[in-house]
Amino acid sequence: MAGARDSSSATRFAQFKLVLLGESAVGKSSLVLRFVKDQFDDYRESTIGAAFLTQTIALDETTTVKFEIWDTAGQERYKSLAPMYYRNANCAVVVYDITQAASLDKAKSWVKELQRQANENIIIALAGNKLDLSDKRQVETSVAENYAKEAGLLFFETSAKSGENVTELFTEIAKRLPLESSTSRQRAAPKGVDLSRSSNRRAPSQTSNGCTC
Ligand code: GTP
Ligand code: MG
Repeated sequence: MAGARDSSSATRFAQFKLVLLGESAVGKSSLVLRFVKDQFDDYRESTIGAAFLTQTIALDETTTVKFEIWDTAGQERYKSLAPMYYRNANCAVVVYDITQAASLDKAKSWVKELQRQANENIIIALAGNKLDLSDKRQVETSVAENYAKEAGLLFFETSAKSGENVTELFTEIAKRLPLESSTSRQRAAPKGVDLSRSSNRRAPSQTSNGCTC
């Protein structure tokens, strides 16, 4: 039996697979970079294939959530790879750029695809990124918010550049995930994948994004 001082046995630890989808250049990789490393690059290379990263957040003193993040490539030529990344995903962040109206249409089509083909219980968040450029806004907050409500999505406007609402977005998703059923008392390795190694190998940088195929 664990000793009284073994406080780790009282902590809850859960890990979830999260996928980012959205048109190229809306800022998916930048949101991940802000969330994982608290950094921002004014010039980021477009993602090739997909990149894999992990980030762990403390929801409260006893609950830790680890996200296994698949940052997909938004360019059209990679579209057919997407199901590989959203299959089995517990949650998805579908990103559009508030300064590009067409990127919301693309986001809506990703939401439709997820709702048809991803996990039945997937939590989907819609993120209107580049909030720091609100003087060039083409998508009104209320329009996106109403759509998100109708479609049953979480909704945030974010800025990977300033960091506004980035932690809030991922934290809100973590709160909606079914912690009880996934919680483990052990910090067990994920099924069949050495995440720590793949995380190092595939962490995106300015020079390379690890292709996962
Ligand atoms: P793909 O990998 O091609 O799918 O693109 P992406 O969605 O990952 O976009 P990425 O993060 O590479 O960002 C595209 C460009 O937008 C880069 O030049 C970023 O610096 C810029 N960018 C991303 N987020 C923001 C933001 O919040 N504000 C501003 N001003 N620029 C941003
Ligand atoms: Mg990218």
